[in-house]
Amino acid sequence: MRQFTLSQVQRFTELAGLPSFQEYVLELEQDTQLVRDVEAMVADVDHFRTKHWDSVHELGLYRIFLYCLTRSRRPGLFVETGVLHGLTSLFILEALERNGQGRLVSIDAPSYFETGPANLDGVDDRLPPRKEPGWVIGPHRRQRFDLRIGLSSEHLEPALCEGPPAEIFLHDSDHTPQNMKFELETALRFLAPGGIIVCDNCINNTAFFDFCSAFQLPMFVFPAGGPGGTAKRERERNLVRFGVTWKPVGGEF
Ligand SMILES: C[S@@+](CC[C@H](N)C(=O)[O-])C[C@H]1O[C@@H](n2cnc3c(N)ncnc32)[C@H](O)[C@@H]1O
Repeated sequence: MRQFTLSQVQRFTELAGLPSFQEYVLELEQDTQLVRDVEAMVADVDHFRTKHWDSVHELGLYRIFLYCLTRSRRPGLFVETGVLHGLTSLFILEALERNGQGRLVSIDAPSYFETGPANLDGVDDRLPPRKEPGWVIGPHRRQRFDLRIGLSSEHLEPALCEGPPAEIFLHDSDHTPQNMKFELETALRFLAPGGIIVCDNCINNTAFFDFCSAFQLPMFVFPAGGPGGTAKRERERNLVRFGVTWKPVGGEF
């Protein structure tokens, strides 16, 4: 992780009252099997042009952050919206497995190759032909994975309310302002006190920033990270990608 990002992450963990991410970054760097497993899953899928990663850092700061957050916060329940191939879910599941506890409930309205994107935000990412959401997650990493097919408007509240409250929520489904507002506010209502909210693509519109300021929540933003090399990639890796906040302990929401 680059130096400036490291100090931002450190500031986040200190203010959120979480153990430092440093040992978890090291652990992930040494876990070469995770990247090899992704390579094996995508090997014969045309849709995935990248077939080899030299380091886990090439899969982006976002996924490394979520791995470390899951290790550090040790949630009993993590709820996410937006699965698609399942690359991010895979990092969360790997962290839960290392924790030896916790479940991931993932909600996805599938963007099948044949039927087109479920997103209303203009994004046209699709699953490869004949693949289901989460297809990059191998059978040995599915024990803690609870995939619910359908819209977040239908599945999010039940997922957050059915048992002890979730400690982490990740939004990465449809990035229209209306859907982001709905998901972020629902998460804030039902998360455990101190629960963490991560919002991918937080600069697509002002929904994440409006949400944080309306509820006077702390607000952190982080860059995309990922591989450098070309001028375009250097520019992209420095752009803000995801936002993070948390539900204050003792607040009324
Ligand atoms: C950006 S992709 C998720 C990528 C994934 N989180 C990752 O980083 O690997 C968004 C996913 O959300 C799904 N989706 C779109 N609108 C949705 C909605 N309203 N509720 C649930 N899922 C939705 C899409 O079909 C797609 O699979």
